[in-house]
Amino acid sequence: MRIGILTSGGDCPGLNAVIRGFAKYVFNNIRDVELIGISEGYLGLIEKDTRRMQPSDFSGILNVGGTILGTSRTPFKKMKEEDSDGKSRLDMMVKNYKALGLDVLVTLGGGGTHKNAGLLADAGLNVVGIPKTIDNDIWGTDVTFGFHTAVDIATECIDRIHTTAASHGRTMLIELMGHKVGWLTLYAGIAGGADIILLPEMPYDPDTVVKMVRRRLDTGKDFSIIAIAEGAMSAAETKMKKNERAEYWNGRATGTERLAQYIEENAGVETRVVIPGHLQRGGNPSPYDRFLSTQMGSFAGELVKNGKFGVTVAMRNNEMTYNRLSDVAGKLKYVPVDDQRIAMARAIGIYFGDEK
Ligand code: F6P
Repeated sequence: MRIGILTSGGDCPGLNAVIRGFAKYVFNNIRDVELIGISEGYLGLIEKDTRRMQPSDFSGILNVGGTILGTSRTPFKKMKEEDSDGKSRLDMMVKNYKALGLDVLVTLGGGGTHKNAGLLADAGLNVVGIPKTIDNDIWGTDVTFGFHTAVDIATECIDRIHTTAASHGRTMLIELMGHKVGWLTLYAGIAGGADIILLPEMPYDPDTVVKMVRRRLDTGKDFSIIAIAEGAMSAAETKMKKNERAEYWNGRATGTERLAQYIEENAGVETRVVIPGHLQRGGNPSPYDRFLSTQMGSFAGELVKNGKFGVTVAMRNNEMTYNRLSDVAGKLKYVPVDDQRIAMARAIGIYFGDEK
């Protein structure tokens, strides 16, 4: 059996651990197996940039961040666009899959990767996905690998900000990744003891945020920690068109600076913004993610062995399972606003900026 494997989209800790878990499973459990590493995500399949991998290639990578295969973003909407020869990227991938003699393609990636994987499955290829992303936003799985490592890093950022915020009596806004969803900010916010957590799923009122900062001042707490997701917006901002918002944010990619300025002007406190950015994606996976990645990688190997294609690995209620790619592609797993975890946070006094 000849298996192609690629990592696509933004990297995250645990990719190498998944690759290793998968490789160990197939080399140990499938007879006459060949593993073909595809470089730089789907780009490597489009350009036929591949290499045959040996069991030794997977040694010593369990705890190493990034991906030994390299990765790139290949936008879904461009997949079917035809070039001057009337060929699309999708056509090239199907052609190269066949030319390489692949029996199955394994794709490690997030939302975009799953959409492309679904496209390839619809084109008749055998595909198995594995859900990667620090955003934890893949529909149908309780958790994605990389998420918990990012939570650890983001929490440490908040911990460090806490001491300097307290020393200076400042309101500090820590902007965390997560694209359009708030899982990373919710988890790191709670784990880091944030006073206010602002999520994309719960548009905030800047005046409520100001009120909450002032309320803390009134009770003798002269500093506040605000964990804000990069996708969080005020209720007014959600109603703006994209270009109006960009103008309102002074050309910045998010509204965090704008909110910081508003708090400073209206609560009479000094503010600072901290953006850990790609630190949240770099470095070694945590033990939790090494374990989960190994589980997901080896389970993907089992799916391949059993000829279960057109699916992606998932974890539900602590058990490995799978979803159909067609059910997952194009869907996001948002933080439900009525989630028990939100209720718990509110009950212990954390604000979400939507309080009346
Ligand atoms: O999807 C992972 C992620 O890190 C998001 O949280 C973030 O919005 C995005 O990727 C950043 O992408 P890039 O690495 O292309 O700047």
